Parts: sequence; structure tokens; C-alpha cells
Amino acid sequence: MRYEAIRGGFCVSADSARLDLDVIHSYLSRSYWAEGISREIVARSIRNSLCFGLYEGVQQIGFARVITDRTSFAYLCDVFVLETHQKQGLGTWLMECVMACPELQGLRRWLLATRDAQKLYEKVGFTPLTDPGRFMHVHRPGIYKSRESAT
Ligand SMILES: CC(C)(COP(=O)(O)OP(=O)(O)OC[C@H]1O[C@@H](n2cnc3c(N)ncnc32)[C@H](O)[C@@H]1OP(=O)(O)O)[C@@H](O)C(=O)NCCC(=O)NCCS
Repeated sequence: MRYEAIRGGFCVSADSARLDLDVIHSYLSRSYWAEGISREIVARSIRNSLCFGLYEGVQQIGFARVITDRTSFAYLCDVFVLETHQKQGLGTWLMECVMACPELQGLRRWLLATRDAQKLYEKVGFTPLTDPGRFMHVHRPGIYKSRESAT
């Protein structure tokens, strides 16, 4: 039995078998961070991550993906709540559920990157980097918009 939390008619579940790839790909492919991403890449990323679906009844209305070794580190990404359900506290609840997942306790570090949703993540304990100079990255924005990676 995978981790699950229920509130009213809503559910957060870490059961990847419940995920609706159409909903996830449809959202991510028009998101500001993964515009143009293909269905196949979304499916592969889900297979290799710990993913959380947010559901109203059987309908998926939100998503969060955690790339992790389940021991020391986690990178939180691809978080969304469908426009029809935003600003009702569901994004906050989804984040609370992710952070409470038994498989993700005792990690040394969590990371994420966001353009404008800092307030959401501050609610569950994230802070700006205290020493950004210690971090380095390889960043390829727009990679999914190129034809070669669109398959
Ligand atoms: C960000 C998102 C998941 C929040 O979901 P939600 O269900 O609307 O969130 P909540 O109703 O729980 O609100 C959470 C808080 O975050 C803030 N917030 C939500 N979306 C925000 C945004 N796009 N920019 C800035 N602040 C935002 C809200 O002001 C709220 O704080 P408040 O209640 O103190 O005012 C949702 O708005 C979304 O899917 N946005 C588009 C995709 C996106 O930007 N994802 C995050 C990528 S890092």
C-alpha cells in the first residue's frame, strides 16, 4: 500500500499506478519550465521518481515529482494544481503531504527551483539558499522546445 492522505473529497497518493499521464503531460508541456516536453520523457521521468498525484474523486487535479535516493537528498519539481482548483489551499496540502511522506523523512537536503511560488514552499519549510556560492548547476532552459528532444 503506497502512502495516501485524504481530506474531504480530495486525495494525495504516491501510487504511480493511479497517475493520469494525459493530465500530467498536458500540463507540463505548456508549463513555463518544461514547455514542449514530450509524453515519452514525462513517462520516463515518472518511472524514475517518487510521484504524488492530487485527486478529486478519481480525477487527477494536481501533481508533484520528487527525484530522490530516499535516504539523504530530494529534488522537488513539476508541481502543479490545475487552474480550475487553484487558490483553495490544495497546493499547500499537496506540499504538506509530500513532506510528510514516510519514505522522505530524515533527508539531509531538499532542493527546488521556482520562478514565483516561493510563498507556497516557505509554508512547508523551504528557505532561500543561505550560501548560493556553494552551489553549481548545468541548466538547459528550453531544451524540450528543440526538435531533436521532442520525441
Ligand atoms: C503553485 C501552485 C501549485 C499552488 O497551488 P494552489 O492550490 O493554488 O496553492 P494554495 O491555494 O495552497 O496557495 C498556496 C500559497 O502560494 C501562493 N501562490 C500560489 N501560486 C502562486 C504563484 N503562482 N505565484 C506566487 N504565489 C503563489 C498563494 O498566494 C498561497 O499563499 P496564501 O494562501 O498565503 O496567499 C499552483 O498555483 C500552480 O499550479 N501554479 C502554476 C504552476 C506552478 O507555478 N507551479 C510551481 C512550479 S515551482
